[in-house]
Amino acid sequence: MTEKILITGAAGFIGFSMCQMLLKNDKHHIIGIDNLNSYYSPKLKKKRLEILKKNKNFKFYKLDLIEKDKLKKIFVQNTFKIVYNFAAQAGVRYSYINPKSYCDSNITGFNNLLELVCSYKVKKFFFASSSSVYGDIGPFPKKENSQLHPLNIYSLSKLVNEQIAKIYSKKIKTSIIGLRFFSIYGEWGRPDMLILKYLIASKKRKPFELFNYGNHYRDFTYIKDAVNLVLRLDKVKLKSNFEIFNVCSSNPIKITKIIDVINKEKIKTKIIGKPIHNADVLKTYGNNSKIVKNMKNFKFTEYRTGVGNTINWYLKNLNLF
Ligand SMILES: NC(=O)c1ccc[n+]([C@@H]2O[C@H](COP(=O)([O-])OP(=O)(O)OC[C@H]3O[C@@H](n4cnc5c(N)ncnc54)[C@H](O)[C@@H]3O)[C@@H](O)[C@H]2O)c1
Repeated sequence: MTEKILITGAAGFIGFSMCQMLLKNDKHHIIGIDNLNSYYSPKLKKKRLEILKKNKNFKFYKLDLIEKDKLKKIFVQNTFKIVYNFAAQAGVRYSYINPKSYCDSNITGFNNLLELVCSYKVKKFFFASSSSVYGDIGPFPKKENSQLHPLNIYSLSKLVNEQIAKIYSKKIKTSIIGLRFFSIYGEWGRPDMLILKYLIASKKRKPFELFNYGNHYRDFTYIKDAVNLVLRLDKVKLKSNFEIFNVCSSNPIKITKIIDVINKEKIKTKIIGKPIHNADVLKTYGNNSKIVKNMKNFKFTEYRTGVGNTINWYLKNLNLF
């Protein structure tokens, strides 16, 4: 049996981008799973899948991490060398509207997957955590060993993932790697996040609600950089079988600056300034030295280039939105 890679959340932004990158190389056989939920446009998720399915080395199962028996069948039928878990209920603000979906997917679903990873002796398990585990208290930039202050159910679910995984790692040989992603953006991105949300509102001539009047900062990280960092991490010899890494460009940008870059492309809409949203933190800013230390000359994409690429991609794919 060929050794394969399992990618959960394969129809999602990061999971899809990871599959695309891995499939460039004919060596990998990928099984993708996703429940195709309607948190945001299933049309966009289906389009991502349509692209992946063109590759003979990609196979997809529509499945929820909650369905442990169905998930187990996939482990029985395949031997996985690596499992990447990108399936989760994402979004900080939505955790105030539907907290249960975070408990189901991010805690029960995560635990189901981790139990199977352990039982079937997968060599490496990468999982998506989040910068939101740091909360809102300085000092910045945040290091992997900085204090953690999850402020909502979403960030708490990610912290629980890290803690459950750490406990499992003591009993097994699998290398477990938690990835604290910071505001990932780029082509095929999420329509619930700032850049695409603003582009969509502008094209549809709808007003845009700008929380905290745009005065907060995000450590925006371009999708291709994030995926390359994670792929290169697979080649790095880890100090222990449980490690956490910040995945960030370590360059916080003010939200109003991002909007300026978009406006310069003559894409604009009326902005309605709002006070800070309960779910938001004022600043995210990570220290990326742990992840880049072992990667010679890693160059991050300049944010104006990354935003420009995102705009070009959006304009070519207006039918998806
Ligand atoms: N994009 C970012 O900036 C960012 C930042 C920090 C952390 N993360 C984390 O990275 C991961 C991927 O994020 P993304 O931006 O690609 O989000 P996404 O919503 O685009 O992708 C997640 C995918 O998982 C699927 N999914 C959700 N619950 C599922 C379940 N129970 N079973 C099967 N599939 C399920 C969804 O349908 C979706 O396609 C998530 O864990 C997210 O919390 C993302």
